Amino acid sequence: MSNYFNFFNYSLANEDTRIEAQFVDQLQPKQVAAVCGSGARAFALLNSSVQDLYLVDTSQFQLDYARFKWDLIQKLNLEDYKKIMGYTVVTAEHRKQILNATHLTEESQIFIQQFKNQHLENGFIYLGRWERFILGLSRLIRWASGTNFSPLFESRSEMEQKAVFQNIWPRKRLQFFISTLAHPRVLNIFLYKGQMVQQLNTKPFHQDLMDRFENFFETQTARQSFFMQLLFLGKITHADGLPIEVQPEYFEKMKKFKGTLHFKHMTLNDFLKTQNNIDFVSGSDIVSYLQESQLYELGQLMLRHLSEHRCFYLFRSFKRHPALGTFLNPFKKSDLEKKCEIQDASVVYQFHIYSSL
Ligand SMILES: C[S@@+](CC[C@H](N)C(=O)[O-])C[C@H]1O[C@@H](n2cnc3c(N)ncnc32)[C@H](O)[C@@H]1O
Repeated sequence: MSNYFNFFNYSLANEDTRIEAQFVDQLQPKQVAAVCGSGARAFALLNSSVQDLYLVDTSQFQLDYARFKWDLIQKLNLEDYKKIMGYTVVTAEHRKQILNATHLTEESQIFIQQFKNQHLENGFIYLGRWERFILGLSRLIRWASGTNFSPLFESRSEMEQKAVFQNIWPRKRLQFFISTLAHPRVLNIFLYKGQMVQQLNTKPFHQDLMDRFENFFETQTARQSFFMQLLFLGKITHADGLPIEVQPEYFEKMKKFKGTLHFKHMTLNDFLKTQNNIDFVSGSDIVSYLQESQLYELGQLMLRHLSEHRCFYLFRSFKRHPALGTFLNPFKKSDLEKKCEIQDASVVYQFHIYSSL
């Protein structure tokens, strides 16, 4: 997967960071590691208990992006941060004025230059390759279905939403769309450029997704998910779905963080080899992309940590749902995994949780 991950893939990303944030609140870890991606999931872990946060990524670009965001978080108030990132709609001129008035580090100034002012139009959050793909998919869904999904996001309760959903997006049409647009081959060709590893689970992918979408619309309100807003509206318009990084309580926590951030340009496996006292790991969905030998190595590293001290590992997986090794079963938390799958507002993930706490 080295080629696929070398670019600017994730400027917002789709992981529901509320999941990790609740575990950090409960467990109060000190030494925390997170696969970096857009940085949003990692920064959501910055509880007052945390002394060190390690942001690990094989992509230097993603690390630079997170470092740049951190610079903005330190120097801007929440309202201006939302404007610069693109969570609030403002003119390009207004964005330029805020950036010009902010004393960014030299690194940040160099980083911004790569975007050649593209960020001024709509902010940064829609610039990643993954986000551009989802927005393209969204345009296609809206164009091909001729459906205005706005009423779905006006619904305030699951009951109301279910009725609207069945009316504007009948089951058969949803099934047709999911089976054609979210077909593994389509994703592999258009998004992963042929680099996604083979599917291992037995349930057909579109059926799995269909079940998850139906479950989502029966149990959660669409407006609370930024991923659903992105997919069906093509932008984030409802504040209820804003990710944690722009929620006042968490933004405050990030600003007040007194510990140390460490940016690590390496694989998670290599990082874990160097660690003896990590007590919380948010591993994103990297297990979906690892080869068998790397998965086995990761399982062994986790086994050592879980047996030697108290720690907690959380991974997601998408499409390919690998077992991390039966030798980890004594630490597997199936009940928590199921709970997370129901809570997860991005719908697509399976969870893998291992803990010795
Ligand atoms: C796996 S991707 C998935 C992002 C996620 N699905 C989302 O949309 O929010 C997250 C990050 O993991 C990085 N990555 C991929 N494989 C990795 C590995 N083995 N170790 C560390 N980082 C990795 C990628 O560069 C990317 O920035």
